[in-house]
Parts: sequence; C-alpha cells; structure tokens
Amino acid sequence: MAKYIVEQSGPLRGEVSISGAKNAVLPLMAATLLSDEECIIDAVPHLADVNLMKEILASLGSEIEENGENTISVRTEDILSTELQKDLVSRMRASILVMGPLLARKGRVRIPLPGGCAIGARPIELHLKGFEILGAIITKSEDNDYVEAVAGGQGLIGDQIYLDFPSVGATENIMMAAVLAEGTTYIENAAEEPEIVDLANFLNKMGAKIRGAGTDTIRIEGVPRLHGAKHTVIPDRIEAGTFMLAAAITRGAVNIRNVEPDHLKPIIAKMRECGVRIEAGDEDIMVRGDLGPQIATDIKTLPYPGFPTDIQSPFMAYLTTVNGTSTVIETVFENRFMHVSQLGKMGAQIETAGNRAVIRGGTHLRGCNVIATDLRAGAAMVLAGLVAEGRTEIADIYHIERGYERFIEKFSGLGARITKIDD
Ligand code: EPZ
Repeated sequence: MAKYIVEQSGPLRGEVSISGAKNAVLPLMAATLLSDEECIIDAVPHLADVNLMKEILASLGSEIEENGENTISVRTEDILSTELQKDLVSRMRASILVMGPLLARKGRVRIPLPGGCAIGARPIELHLKGFEILGAIITKSEDNDYVEAVAGGQGLIGDQIYLDFPSVGATENIMMAAVLAEGTTYIENAAEEPEIVDLANFLNKMGAKIRGAGTDTIRIEGVPRLHGAKHTVIPDRIEAGTFMLAAAITRGAVNIRNVEPDHLKPIIAKMRECGVRIEAGDEDIMVRGDLGPQIATDIKTLPYPGFPTDIQSPFMAYLTTVNGTSTVIETVFENRFMHVSQLGKMGAQIETAGNRAVIRGGTHLRGCNVIATDLRAGAAMVLAGLVAEGRTEIADIYHIERGYERFIEKFSGLGARITKIDD
C-alpha cells in the first residue's frame, strides 16, 4: 500500500490555489441525472471520489466526456438502470445522492444500504423519511441489505418535511427529489452549507424553482422537467482550511488563492483567536503564522455556519503546537477522534472523554509511523508530520487522495518535504 513520508519541513511559504469542492461536485454530478440534456460542470477536481461518481453515473446510463483539464460533460438521455451495485456504494457513501434524482426522474431507486464508516454509523433514515413524505413507498430487503423507494402512481407530491438534524446529504437528496414533484415542497431545519447553495444554484440554472438555500427553510416548487446547464463548482472550503492550518502549524506565510472567504468565516475566526494573522481579499486569503506567539482556543463543531467538523482533526493537530490547553467538542459525528491516538503516538498530550478532547499544547512532536483513519484525519497527520522532529510515515493514504487534488504537488510547492512511496 502507498504511504506518505513527511519530514520536518520548516515554515511553509508561497502561494497555493484551491480546487473545486469535493462535497459540492458530488451532488452536482448526481443532479445531472435529472435532465436528458447535456450538463457542463467546470472546476471539477481530479479525485478518486469524482472518478467513482463517474462510474456510478455511467452504470445508470450517463454519457460522460472530459472537456478539458477540469471540465466534464454529462448527458443522460435515458436512465438505463435504477439500481446501484453494492461494490460502488460500499466504496463511497456519497453514491446515495443519486437516490433523489432517480426517484424524481424514473419513480424508482434501489440501493444497498451504505454501511457506516470510520467516523460513524451514518444512517440514512432522514433521506428515506423525506422521500416517504413526498409519497414514495420505502421497503427494505429481508436481510436489511437493500432499500428500495418507489414513487406513487402520480409521481412524487410536494409536501412539508422537517429534518430532525440538518443533514447535508438528506437536504441535497430531498431537494433533488422535489424539483420534479407535483406541487411545492418545504424542507424545514435544512442544512445551510455552501455546497447546498451551490447545488440549488445549479438546479435553478436547469429550470428548477428553489428558494431559501443557505437558510434553514428551503422552498422547492416542482416543475415538469429540467434542461441542461453549465456550472462552475465552488472552491473547496475544507481544502482551503487545511492549507490555512498548514501555514499556521509551520509558522509560515502562505497566500491561498481561489477561495470564497465568506465560506471560511468560522475557521478564520478561530485561527485569529489563536493569534494567527489573516487577511482576506475577494478571492484569496493570506495566512501569517510567522508573526507573534500563538495560543490555545476552544472548538465546538456544528452544522454550518458553525465550525466545520471536517476541519476538526487538522485544527486539533495545530492546537498541539500552541501554548496552553484547548478543548475540542465534536457534535456532528459520533466517532471522529481516531486521529487522537495517532497524534498521541507522536507525543501529543490529548485526553478524550466522549465527544470532548482536551489538548495540552506546546508539546514537542516526534515523527513516527501513523495511519490515516479517515480523509481529514489523514490531512491532520500530514500537518503534524510537517513540524514533528524527524520523519513521519503515514499509511492508508488512499483516504487522503479521495478528497485532496494534487495533494503532494501543492504541499511540495510550499516547501513541504513530503513524498509518496509505494510499498
Ligand atoms: C457531508 O456528509 C459531507 N460529505 C461530509 O464530509 C461532512 O462531514 C458532513 O456532510 C457534515 O458536514 C459530502 O458532502 C459528500 P450529514 P453527510 O448527513 O451528508 C447523521 C468529508 O470529509 N445523520 O450532514 O453524510 C450522520 O450520521 C466528509 O469530506 C443521521 O443520523 O453528512 C452524522 O452524524 C466526511 N441520519 C450527521 O447526521 C441521516 O439520515 C451529519 O451527517 C443522515 C445523517
């Protein structure tokens, strides 16, 4: 299996450009199933998860073409299957995002229930509840392996849906199911992430009538059909936050280009509390970790616009290097502290109790062999390796390469001493 070798690197300096957002492009690609016309998506990052979503769309009848470095064309003149194969769903949870579009366009979808993953059980009952309220009949196989949703005779009927939790995926899936429904749908307690807004903007370009995306109440007025559209994926706020923290943890100075500073507000606020100098322009952000002492702070992850759970582990790696005691509370996923034991192997002083971690910062990290336990935890281990004494070997880096485009190239361009080896 491939590994990253990270050597103590000194302050990162220079400029890096952020790619299109993984968590925006995946629902955008699923949404192309809602039309029989060509959709063009630009700023598509080259990621394993994007390639998998291409495979999934192709298995359903889509024709996909590369139109240049980061542009794809997707056209699904007719949907040839409304079933997903087990191996595809088991490799990527986001494959469930085709449920809403298939239910809307063909009135049926059957998928293997996605299992949990390292960070939690990740059930989909909120997705299924939304489909049921829109009139779909939900049945599970006897072995509970598969779930099928079938729309009523008249197709889906708009209605009012309250989400017990502002689930990102459930909001996206229900929004995509509702765009072709008869009548109007309201999603209450909806997720407000920027990726939801990006999806709603794309659907509206396709002819949908969606209002309120980015707030806790989204109104979707059903329309008879959707046409093709062109769209550019928003920049990846989690990749941007990862590089912001790379600049801070190495006490470097990095200008990060192609960002939406508004999407980074919680990360900017907490890093400024630590003493990091941050200057945001219209589309770039300058992060100075080389000016003055940096101190502890407290983090609590919450649905947007709260502090993003996906930045929790990279931020914790940074907090091990500042003086003082920090607290991190993870409220979104039930098991997202696997990186704590890996950071502990490097000498970090972190105690956990339930969803709370207490970090005694200012410790001297030492390189050693660690593993990436999930996508973002893997990035956290790279950040720790950049400042740890000696050499850090990170295994299971396939997690990292699922979600960060040209990861080694971008970090090396800032002076990071990082290489990839194949065992
Ligand atoms: C999206 O996952 C992101 N993935 C995740 O990013 C991100 O961490 C998460 O949103 C939260 O921001 C993509 O967009 C592809 P949720 P999603 O539904 O949609 C529970 C990364 O590293 N829940 O908002 O799966 C769930 O178990 C990944 O890029 C239910 O209980 O997140 C979790 O505890 C990791 N029932 C919480 O809600 C449901 O029906 C948040 O899940 C649905 C969710």
